[in-house]
Amino acid sequence: MFRRAQIFLAMVLVVAGCSGPGGDADGGERPSEAAGAASAADAEEENLDVWLERLEVGSRELYSARDAVVEAVGLKEGDWVADIGAGTGLYTVLFAERVGASGRVLAEDIEPLFLDLINQRAADLNVDNVTAVLGREDDVTLPKSSVDVVFIADTYHYFEDREAVMRSIYEALKPGGSLILVEFDITPGEQRADYKSHVRFGKAGVISEVEFIGFKFSDAPVVVGLDENYFIRFVKPAAP
Ligand SMILES: C[S@@+](CC[C@H](N)C(=O)[O-])C[C@H]1O[C@@H](n2cnc3c(N)ncnc32)[C@H](O)[C@@H]1O
Repeated sequence: MFRRAQIFLAMVLVVAGCSGPGGDADGGERPSEAAGAASAADAEEENLDVWLERLEVGSRELYSARDAVVEAVGLKEGDWVADIGAGTGLYTVLFAERVGASGRVLAEDIEPLFLDLINQRAADLNVDNVTAVLGREDDVTLPKSSVDVVFIADTYHYFEDREAVMRSIYEALKPGGSLILVEFDITPGEQRADYKSHVRFGKAGVISEVEFIGFKFSDAPVVVGLDENYFIRFVKPAAP
């Protein structure tokens, strides 16, 4: 679904681009250019509203069960946690509260619009322990051994190059740190509702892919309120 955001973003850039090279030599804007820039900004805002309504709505388990999910993640005061594919920042802001002023949340996404929204949310909440990080399709671009916990919700199945992304996550996690994945559960061959028809693999496949990178499966706690999604934890083995 983030593909639609990318297409939208491309449209916004096309509209915004009209006011670039064609601008007046004195730097002033023609009325039609100013209108174009304003409508692009409005459209951007509208788009984020759509995403907020889609991701932060009671009918979405990851929203309605968010407190139980955060509890299961088990963050401590002072932890550094990476929220990979942070989206609207639903979990980012909850994690920021948990880790407190001595901790930090690295909210990573490949969509700059989401990162702007997260920065805005952090500013509105007056929290300064959130850092928005622009990742790439194949690399989360986080410093080596920088985080205690990595959290990936409803995002793993979107990775275009799962092996490369997961290797970059392995590098970013401290030895002994945890990786948590929350994903739609699917049963091969099952008739799936439209909203999860894009999910291509089930829990067993994900576990074997993640273990192939070097993580060790730890546990899959039952999280109250999660019925369609599973919650699994891995650890990065401590250095020998
Ligand atoms: C369904 S949203 C989930 C957002 C958030 N984790 C939540 O559960 O509310 C998926 C997110 O993954 C992001 N994404 C897709 N591919 C990614 C990649 N390779 N690296 C980082 N983020 C990615 C999208 O931009 C989008 O924000």
